[in-house]
Amino acid sequence: MIRQPATIVASAAYLPPNRVPNAHFEGYLDTSDAWIFERTGIKERRWADDTMSTSDMGLMAAQKALEKAGITPRDIDLLLVATMTPDQPLPSTAALIQSKLDGCKAPAMDISAACSGYLYGLSVAKAYIESGMYQNILLIGCEKMTQVVDPLDRSTVILFGDGAGASVIKAGGKGLRIDRIVLGLDGHLNHALFIPQSGKMKMLGQEIFKTAIQRGVETIEFLLHQEKIAIEEIDHLVFHQANLRIIQNIQKRFNVPSEKIPTSIDFTANTSAASIPILLESIPHQENQRYLSVAFGAGFTYAGAIFTSL
Ligand code: UT7
Repeated sequence: MIRQPATIVASAAYLPPNRVPNAHFEGYLDTSDAWIFERTGIKERRWADDTMSTSDMGLMAAQKALEKAGITPRDIDLLLVATMTPDQPLPSTAALIQSKLDGCKAPAMDISAACSGYLYGLSVAKAYIESGMYQNILLIGCEKMTQVVDPLDRSTVILFGDGAGASVIKAGGKGLRIDRIVLGLDGHLNHALFIPQSGKMKMLGQEIFKTAIQRGVETIEFLLHQEKIAIEEIDHLVFHQANLRIIQNIQKRFNVPSEKIPTSIDFTANTSAASIPILLESIPHQENQRYLSVAFGAGFTYAGAIFTSL
């Protein structure tokens, strides 16, 4: 039996309305708008208020993605939620979203792979679809980073934002065919970015910065080699949005023009597992284009994928 390739048929984003410009931090931290923009490319981020949870944001993105895909919650066979900021330890954020998606009866689970969570989730979706087990999978990346960052730590609080992105992945159809996904993990670096059981996020920024560039370059080289294509054949390089300087360093190694690299970091900051689906929503669909996506984050997890638009 010929299986249909897993295809992202729709992606959608949700950002909470409250915009927080860099100038906000100047009032109470030893930092400045100029420092933040020059070192990260960030101008502002969105923050969810106390009434909005990770699952609320995930639900908003999911409803938009389902509508774009032309399917209902009843049609979903499996619900996956990539998040490092669950509403609560139990039940999973995926279970909470399932209960809010009217008519959805799908099994649901969370994926914990930090900022690589969306691509890790996509690999799970691809495997299930191409095994023939499921036909329609909803994958959500959603984060309320403000619940885990220390508001007084100037090296992290300025970097992160809240938001959500969601994709519908189907067996076949028009959209982004998932040609290949590669996953990786450097467990010896788990001290470089972590959240203790009770406490806020701790980060060794420079270690993450250097490893992100190194693993990002290697992941791109590996994917190009596996697919037997050159970097010039890639139309869109879809990077996890962590720091514009990380993206620019990798861009320089491969000499890719900036027009091929969409970014949202200036207005979203780092939304962790939500950043790639937020970007995917913004790229106008054109047939026969190749996308290469790369993500990295705590763990130290990293992942890459190649898509072809149909
Ligand atoms: O999804 C993965 C999540 N994490 C990341 O991707 C983070 C990757 N790392 C980074 O983006 C960068 O390392 C940072 C933006 C966190 C820091 O930038 P940097 O250019 O690597 O700065 P640095 O750590 O080398 O620090 C230089 C100085 C230090 O001061 P001293 O020790 O030289 O006096 C920091 O304390 O900059 C200071 N600094 C700040 N100054 C003003 C750190 N944060 C700030 C700040 N404002 N917000």
